[in-house]
Amino acid sequence: MTDLLEARDICFAYPSVRVLKDVSMTVRANECHVIIGPNGAGKTTLFKVLSGETLPQSGTVRYSGEDVTRLDAWKRVHRGIGRTFQVARLFSEQTVLNNVILALECRENIKGTSLGRWWRLNPARELVDEAMSRLAEYGLDRRAQDSAKNLSHGDKKRLELLLTLSLHPKLIMLDEPTAGMAPDDRRAVVAMVNRLREEEGLTLLLTEHDMEVVFGLATRLTVLSQGKVIASGEPEEVRRDPVVHEIYFGKGRHHA
Ligand SMILES: Nc1ncnc2c1ncn2[C@@H]1O[C@H](COP(=O)(O)OP(=O)(O)O)[C@@H](O)[C@H]1O
Ligand SMILES: [Mg+2]
Repeated sequence: MTDLLEARDICFAYPSVRVLKDVSMTVRANECHVIIGPNGAGKTTLFKVLSGETLPQSGTVRYSGEDVTRLDAWKRVHRGIGRTFQVARLFSEQTVLNNVILALECRENIKGTSLGRWWRLNPARELVDEAMSRLAEYGLDRRAQDSAKNLSHGDKKRLELLLTLSLHPKLIMLDEPTAGMAPDDRRAVVAMVNRLREEEGLTLLLTEHDMEVVFGLATRLTVLSQGKVIASGEPEEVRRDPVVHEIYFGKGRHHA
């Protein structure tokens, strides 16, 4: 498999704390790579560096062979990197339907086939139909006219994922996609992520705490602890690593 995304020797610090210390990792095409590690390890910060929300002080990020370390976040979205957030980011004052229409309009803009600036007053019929059928796929069609801010936590996460997928990313980064979900919803996320990878050929990079979820979908794992990569490899290999065992799986500890 070829490398789609590569982080090399990434260092990032806030004024009072060094968060990422020479972090290197690769995401291969069509894998589901999961980053695990205790709270505060630097997982979300690494996501910010990879997606362009934040610049590292040193190190490089390459995507599809191109150095994107200093490329604006929105240009990375155009290149095919989609991401969701630990706390869902939606257009919360807009209806659920308008959220999807906005995402589809962004996709048309990216493709260079924008449907015109007045779409929001009068969105094209095809766009509304497509939005409704995407909502139906995610079981959200009945909520189409509700304000996004009134959705349940699980539905917000689902809608955010739908919006991200609407842009047809090649790589999708999910920061704690199952956080705060009930076990059934978690299993649904595992099934969906596996389907996206196996049937739609997507590449996924996740952070996740729930070990049942991790071992249900990861093809490779990277373990971060205090801003350093302490292990990387196939799930079983990482599980057997004595250092990982000690700090992460050992003593029945739970890192929520
Ligand atoms: N905006 C910020 N300013 C200062 N420190 C921060 C900020 N955001 C995160 N941190 C610190 O950076 C470290 C890593 O945080 P984070 O990347 O969110 O870890 P994780 O996602 O693994 O829980 C933590 O010590 C956290 O307190
Ligand atoms: Mg985090």
